[in-house]
Amino acid sequence: MGTFDCPAACPYVAASKPALDFPIGQLRRVASGNDVGDVDETKRNVLKLLAVAGLVGAAGGGLVGGTLQYAQPPIVGISSYPRTQLVDVNGSPLTVDAVESEYNVGTSDLFIFYYPLQNEPNFFLNLYPANGQPPSTSNPGAQNVPGGVGSHGSIVAFSAICQHLGCPAPAISYYPPGTCAQTFNTGPSGPNTSPNQPFYIHCSCHGSTYNPANGASNLTGPAVLPLPQVTLDVDPSGVIYAVGETGPPVNGHLNTLQGDYSVGTSSQLARESPVILCSFPS
Ligand code: FES
Repeated sequence: MGTFDCPAACPYVAASKPALDFPIGQLRRVASGNDVGDVDETKRNVLKLLAVAGLVGAAGGGLVGGTLQYAQPPIVGISSYPRTQLVDVNGSPLTVDAVESEYNVGTSDLFIFYYPLQNEPNFFLNLYPANGQPPSTSNPGAQNVPGGVGSHGSIVAFSAICQHLGCPAPAISYYPPGTCAQTFNTGPSGPNTSPNQPFYIHCSCHGSTYNPANGASNLTGPAVLPLPQVTLDVDPSGVIYAVGETGPPVNGHLNTLQGDYSVGTSSQLARESPVILCSFPS
């Protein structure tokens, strides 16, 4: 570093410390009291990084914690099956007399009610022939079927969610006799029941078909499990109740009783138009 002639009045001459020896233009921090030397910028940057990392970590931890909290929905459900009174589409109690006069094996509209949870729809069916005569090969229908109630043991209810990949009604629908040129050889499934059965539950998503006259057992895959069946009960005045469910869990539920809130003490039938697709796996 070069020197220059400083006149007597020059402040540098009066200074008690030697002139600073770093190049002109370079900034240095100098302690005003105890001289602690130059600040170590590397240490300072590391400390800054640690502080920022701490903040990010704390914020990230909070976010992760919050995300985990909301990624795990609370388990909603009930501990036992409710006794739920079924209500007709017009709001009146659903009785055996009303069902046997208004619904039969040839009813083409779907009648859906939810049970036991608010996201578990079910078909409501009466499989007895419309003419009131016992079912036969020439008079399609069924009576005294598994789980059936009413005068002929022909009133049943099954989950309206397919056991294959979970297509719900109306993609899965009840097909009354004459809907498609299709019958299934079900064998004798009960007194006065035709072995060549032209009525069934069919899922238009991939073709699974179920036999409502035999506990909604599989007629065709790809589903391999039957539809869960709602247990029906009739009180002395003829009013119909849903009181339980048998078979596998409703598709999409680890347990039929878990996954939503209870329907409560009553559940009303709703009318839906079916989705019909006369295409069946070979
Ligand atoms: S979801 Fe019904 S057959 Fe696939």
